[in-house]
Amino acid sequence: MAVESHGLLPLVLNLLLCVLGPSESQGGKLLVVPMDGSHWLSMVSVIQQLHQRGHEIVVVAPTSSVRIKEGAFYTFKNFPVPFQKEDLEAIFVSFGHNVFEDEPFLQRVVKMYKAVQKDSAILLSACSHLLHNKELMASLVAGSFEAVLTDPFLPCGSIVAQYLSLPAVYFLNGLPCGLDFDGTQCPSPPSYVPRSLSVNPDHMTFLQRVKNMLITFIQPFLCSAVYSPFASLASEVLQRDVTVQDLMGFGSVWLLRSDFVMNYPRPTMPNIIFIGGINCVTQKPLSQEFEAYVNASGEHGIVVFSLGSMVSEIPEKKAMEIADALGKIPQTVLWRYTGSPPSNLAKNTILVKWLPQNDLLGHPNARAFITHAGSHGIYEGICNGVPMVMMPLFGDQMDNAKRMESRGAGITLNVLEMTSDDLAHALKTVINDKSYKENIMRLSSLHKDRPMEPLDLAVFWVEFVMRHKGAPHLRPAAHDLTWYQYHSLDVIGFLLAVVLASTFIVFKCCVFGFRKCFGKKGRIKKPHKSKAH
Ligand SMILES: *[C@@H]1O[C@H](CO)[C@@H](O)[C@H](O)[C@H]1NC(C)=O
Repeated sequence: MAVESHGLLPLVLNLLLCVLGPSESQGGKLLVVPMDGSHWLSMVSVIQQLHQRGHEIVVVAPTSSVRIKEGAFYTFKNFPVPFQKEDLEAIFVSFGHNVFEDEPFLQRVVKMYKAVQKDSAILLSACSHLLHNKELMASLVAGSFEAVLTDPFLPCGSIVAQYLSLPAVYFLNGLPCGLDFDGTQCPSPPSYVPRSLSVNPDHMTFLQRVKNMLITFIQPFLCSAVYSPFASLASEVLQRDVTVQDLMGFGSVWLLRSDFVMNYPRPTMPNIIFIGGINCVTQKPLSQEFEAYVNASGEHGIVVFSLGSMVSEIPEKKAMEIADALGKIPQTVLWRYTGSPPSNLAKNTILVKWLPQNDLLGHPNARAFITHAGSHGIYEGICNGVPMVMMPLFGDQMDNAKRMESRGAGITLNVLEMTSDDLAHALKTVINDKSYKENIMRLSSLHKDRPMEPLDLAVFWVEFVMRHKGAPHLRPAAHDLTWYQYHSLDVIGFLLAVVLASTFIVFKCCVFGFRKCFGKKGRIKKPHKSKAH
């Protein structure tokens, strides 16, 4: 009986899906070339939804992936790479450690740069191993896919899509050095669109605009340093000249995990779809373990504390300072921490190796959220309306934190310089000063007031690209112009030449006429007179 019902349940569910599900989707084939780490986590919810709508999905990733594994709703094709999962994890761990080392700024930058260089070499080699894997690539060619879903942070998926002549849907949080909006040819006036890593607001002072302009000039060089090896690889595989802009500009539709509650208003393009908060949509009830913690916290409630998946250990001295601060508040603190417990850990602080962050933040007893201000965490804080204490560590986190702070929804701390008192004070402020809760609730209601859930939007646009074999009608012609054509320099030059030439001719005519009437009468008139006579 039990065995039978096991077989029956999926059947009934499938039947229900067929009856209830949108009748349009007739099941296509989608190839997914994802990016490992937290980037994968929000993409996987889209894949799950697409599977439920009857599509067949193939995910391609290296054997040594950290997060990407076999899944029930996709076919997993992996390929061998010359490095281990542990090598990747070691990169994450050292990345986390570097952040906390109190070194001179320049030394930190150099160290970070070297780490990024090493990481991108590893990621590039993974891409190269995929593209040179004849057997796997042949099976992809034979796979008759309709589109490729990929995170262009690693433009490998773009190369695969071009190799297979398939349209690509980009799914991303953003790209470094402004390559996201440059890649879509979206205008970004530096006068009011703050550059990433500038920590500028949208209303900038003169000096902030100078900084913004300087970053605008430097960005293309940084981008090309990071991404040009991928362009060379693409040129080799596709046997034609491919630039970084070609790799990025290939995306038919860009699903951007961003919105205008968190980010400042700015120009956008018809093929950019904003799906910020997509990671927040699915909320599950808490497990027994976590529900018990929340219940036990009583009227004071809980504080959720996580520095993200990249940083799970921090130096002992810092950990003790933090533990000291956490002991000074009446709330129960749930801290995701995998290092050895600080010796001064207070009774109200519970260390866990993992926590259901979004589900905990969604509980009415959540009072505050201590976060590294990664985009996932920020959106979970916004959609659940929980004020934040932010400790940005690297990348876009400073910008994210600044945005939340400027809207009165949280307090930013410098993790290197902060004392135990600073942290305790910041926590007490966001919990007890009602304005923080009011501001985050206002952001939350703005964020959630939308015609369509971001997950449905993402699924719709992936299917759109599959149905129509791309979206060339949304592609701005800017992609096909040279830089001087884009800025109309040739036209300006032409018009300038016309104006100059006409001015010159008019001037010459005037001079001629002037001379004829008044100047050097004798010499000009004489021949006329002599003719007339
Ligand atoms: C927590 O409290 C709720 C409401 O009082 C109760 O229904 C639930 O069973 C409790 N859970 C645990 C694990 O104690």
